[in-house]
Amino acid sequence: MQPVLTKNINTPDSHRLSVYEANGGYQALKKALTQMKPQDVIDAVKASGLRGRGGAGFPCGVKWNFMPKEKKGPHYLACNADEGEPGTFKDIVLMNKDPHLVIEGCAISSYAIQADTCFIYIRGEFWDGYKILKEAIAEAERAGYLGENILGSGYSLRMILYKGAGAYICGEETSLMESTESNRGMPRLRPPVPAQRGIYGHPTTVNNVETLSNVPFIVERGVDWYKSLGTNERNTGPKLYCLSGHVERPGVYEDELGIPLRKIIEEYGGGVRGGKKLKAVCPGGTSSAFMTPDQIDTPMDFDSVMEAGSMLGSAAIVVLDETVCLVQAAVNVMEFYHHESCGQCTPCREGCGWLLKILRRIEAGKGAKEDLDLLLDIMDNMKGNTICAFGDGACMAPESLIRKWRPEFEAHITGKRCPFNGRGG
Ligand SMILES: Cc1cc2nc3c(=O)[nH]c(=O)nc-3n(C[C@H](O)[C@H](O)[C@H](O)COP(=O)(O)O)c2cc1C
Ligand code: SF4
Repeated sequence: MQPVLTKNINTPDSHRLSVYEANGGYQALKKALTQMKPQDVIDAVKASGLRGRGGAGFPCGVKWNFMPKEKKGPHYLACNADEGEPGTFKDIVLMNKDPHLVIEGCAISSYAIQADTCFIYIRGEFWDGYKILKEAIAEAERAGYLGENILGSGYSLRMILYKGAGAYICGEETSLMESTESNRGMPRLRPPVPAQRGIYGHPTTVNNVETLSNVPFIVERGVDWYKSLGTNERNTGPKLYCLSGHVERPGVYEDELGIPLRKIIEEYGGGVRGGKKLKAVCPGGTSSAFMTPDQIDTPMDFDSVMEAGSMLGSAAIVVLDETVCLVQAAVNVMEFYHHESCGQCTPCREGCGWLLKILRRIEAGKGAKEDLDLLLDIMDNMKGNTICAFGDGACMAPESLIRKWRPEFEAHITGKRCPFNGRGG
């Protein structure tokens, strides 16, 4: 596939406005503001089938239609540039290498939902991304693509780059809104949904960086072109896949949404490192269930990965080879979730701690026979019983590892040691 989202990233000085404009940049914004009404943009995005690239795959145009059409006060767009899911590093490529694409996507999308202000909420550790985006916003303002009366259209937009402090939970949309208001980043109960009461109580739409970066192409090249990409009607457009772990060539690769997982691992990634055997693969970041090697022909689209018992999520593929101890992998994942839980809900706060403690015990060869069922029982009590999806996400990887590789967990318990690193005994 001809690169779409990443078409500019290897051009020298791709982050500069002059380079972006020379490659056709901001023509889509011009077209939207001069030839389309806000609802036309929403309808085009809806017809394109673009599904959110932040994890849940919710149809973007449908979400935009939730915004009230009557304006009783400010409307906001929040561009979610927090990117904290372990294994995910695609949005940062767009921000560092093509910041004007992100800005143009935000500007057109803000126009569509009639937002007066667009917040770009960027992860605290993204120092380069912050600097690059800040300069790019200033360039865009000077050129009249942001600010008052953009391109003489009568539409005005203020863009605010807001830096978080690097908490995974601040990527959750309601937590992001709290954090944007300078409160502690803790998810809010829903309803009300953000389109009813968002940042400072005003209607807000939250979209991922990659989702918004698709919008200029839909406006410029049209719905039919967009739908010609992707492998089925429900999963359209280009997609960025993050590939990491035990592969020869980790990286961010662009192709159509829905290509087989095998193609990403073997063709783009050069296969498992050192010719070793594939043991387990996580298709959508650590909040998704691990898949077995016989599932790597699964198409990487939202529905097929779900049917295979996992989640496309942010398409953060983590490959584990045969040398990995999967109990250790479960411990690693739980350490992350235990550290990052905001602590608001008892099942999540206490559950993550218990899961970690028991998994560590098993990995050290000190587990009991009952521990595996105890782990599954704790997870059952966490799932669906928390304010946000973090609690469920925390269970996905460890649960899949226990269910699919149970003998490996049992071997740690009966052998009283880790068969991989010999710990315990
Ligand atoms: C714990 C947690 C962390 C999340 N982190 C991110 C993130 O870093 N970036 C992101 O775009 N979405 C993240 N999400 C999903 C957002 O809540 C939201 O669904 C998304 O930004 C919506 O954008 P989209 O419709 O364009 O996908 C996270 C969700 C949860 C539960
Ligand atoms: S599920 Fe966890 S992270 Fe989400 S609100 Fe509850 S305690 Fe916080």
